[in-house]
Amino acid sequence: MIFETHAHYDDEKFDEDRDQLLNSMKENNIEYIINVAAAVKGIKATKELMEKYPFVYGAVGVHPDEVGDLDEEVMTQIRALCSHEKTVAVGEIGLDYYWDKENHKNQIYWFKRQMDVAREEKLPIIVHSRDAAADTLGVMQEHHAEEIGGVVHCYSYSVEMARDYLNMGFYFGIGGVVTFNNAKKLKEVVSYVPMESLLLETDSPYLAPVPNRGKRNSSLNIPYVVSEIARLKGVSEEEVIEQTNRNAHKLFTKVS
Ligand code: NI
Repeated sequence: MIFETHAHYDDEKFDEDRDQLLNSMKENNIEYIINVAAAVKGIKATKELMEKYPFVYGAVGVHPDEVGDLDEEVMTQIRALCSHEKTVAVGEIGLDYYWDKENHKNQIYWFKRQMDVAREEKLPIIVHSRDAAADTLGVMQEHHAEEIGGVVHCYSYSVEMARDYLNMGFYFGIGGVVTFNNAKKLKEVVSYVPMESLLLETDSPYLAPVPNRGKRNSSLNIPYVVSEIARLKGVSEEEVIEQTNRNAHKLFTKVS
């Protein structure tokens, strides 16, 4: 069954039918979901979701666009929640120079601080990086992220840089973007990266795959991603599903 490693079911776009949608996952071959906190209020919402649904696990952290709301009090909350039996990662954390909502120095400071928490709590990290290729890799290498481990979610950089992340033992989160016609670079990355380093994700409610591009995304769209990865790798869809599930278990060791 499918292991969905990155979704935001606390988003208000799911307010109308969240319960119904999540309760339909099992019958649609979705075994596990990691709900990833992004804004500060997403931390508490993630805790509620993982306590309500047996198959939902959580990642706690603050997205680079939101670090203006981050302070030591919130860091204490994050740290406390890391020891929750269903918290499997610190995330999503990283750098976003595309929206550029917070100055780079501030983004880098909180990226490092949250990496430190992951290291202390022995949890992997879920990295968000957009238009910040050189700084993200630089900060992670300097901060010895290879000792922490994790996944670069919605990977959007080059094959050459993928090699650097592979050398650090990082996984690559692959979602709807891989189905886009203009995603030539990402298709090359998926062809290059070993199956053992790929994870399935959606970033729901964002980034729905073709043929639902532009609509609200959900984990139910993952089969379109699976089918494109299978085509690129020349393997069966079943193999993509099984291998990525094994990979997710290897990285997120608290999932039973
Ligand atoms: Ni996300």
